[in-house]
Amino acid sequence: MTNTPRQLKLPNKNKKQVWLTAYDAHAATLAEAAGIDVLLVGDSLGMVSLGFDSTIPVTLEHMIHHAAAVVRGRQKAWVVCDLPFGSYQQSPQQAWASSVQLLQQSGCDAVKLEGGRSMVPTIRFLSERGVAVVAHIGLTPQSVKLLGGFKKQGNSLAASRRVLLDAQAVAEAGAVAVVVECVPDDLAAQITQMLSIPVVGIGAGSECDAQVLVWHDVLGLNERNPPFAPAYANIRQQMIAAIEAWANDVRGDDG
Ligand code: KIV
Repeated sequence: MTNTPRQLKLPNKNKKQVWLTAYDAHAATLAEAAGIDVLLVGDSLGMVSLGFDSTIPVTLEHMIHHAAAVVRGRQKAWVVCDLPFGSYQQSPQQAWASSVQLLQQSGCDAVKLEGGRSMVPTIRFLSERGVAVVAHIGLTPQSVKLLGGFKKQGNSLAASRRVLLDAQAVAEAGAVAVVVECVPDDLAAQITQMLSIPVVGIGAGSECDAQVLVWHDVLGLNERNPPFAPAYANIRQQMIAAIEAWANDVRGDDG
C-alpha cells in the first residue's frame, strides 16, 4: 500500500473529534487540509454518489473501490470504512472474511458495522482478531425497510432504553468507537457520559465526543439536507453557475 499514514490515532475520548465522510482521493485531500480527524467512507455513498435510494444496494466491491481511493488521498487521517449490507450480518465468520477483504484491498484502518446487541458476537470476534471495529446504533440506515423510514430512534422510554443497552453492549464487546445516529440529544449525552469509548454523533445533539456529517450535506451539494445536517456552503449553486457560465462561453451565449 503506497500511502503509509504518518500518525494513526485511535479516536480519543478527551478531545472533540471531527469526522467527515469522503468517497474519493480528492475529497480526502480537501478534508485533511481542513483538519478533519477521521475520514469515513460511508455506505451513504450509495445514495449521494451512486444514485441508489437507500444504502442496501451498496456492495463490498463498491466500498473497496471508494475506500482505496480515499486511502490514496489521505496523509495521516484515520480511515474508517463501512461494511455494506449483507456483507457481515450472516455470521461473525462472514464479517471476518469481508473485513479482511476490505482492510487488505483498500488499506483502511477500521471497519464500521450497524447494529447493537445483535452484533456483539461479531464485534467480539473481529476485535479479538485484531480488527478495529466502529459500531453504529440508533438509526441504522441498512435496516430502513424494517424501521419504516429514516426516522428518529429512541423516542419512547422503552426505545431509549434499547439504545442505551445497545451502546453499552457494543462498547463491552470491544468496539473502538460508536456512531449514534438520530436519537434525542439527552439520550446521546447520557450514552457519552456512560461509555469510555468515543461516541460519534450525527443528528444526536452536541454533547457527543465527536461529530460526523456527510460530505454532500456539509458542502450544500444536495437539493435538500436532512433537518439535522446544516449546510455550511452552497456549493451546488456555485457548481451549476460555473458549469452554466462555461457552457454559455462555448455556445457564445450571453447567459
Ligand atoms: O454511511 C454513512 O455515511 C454513515 C454516516 C451517516 C454516519 O454511516
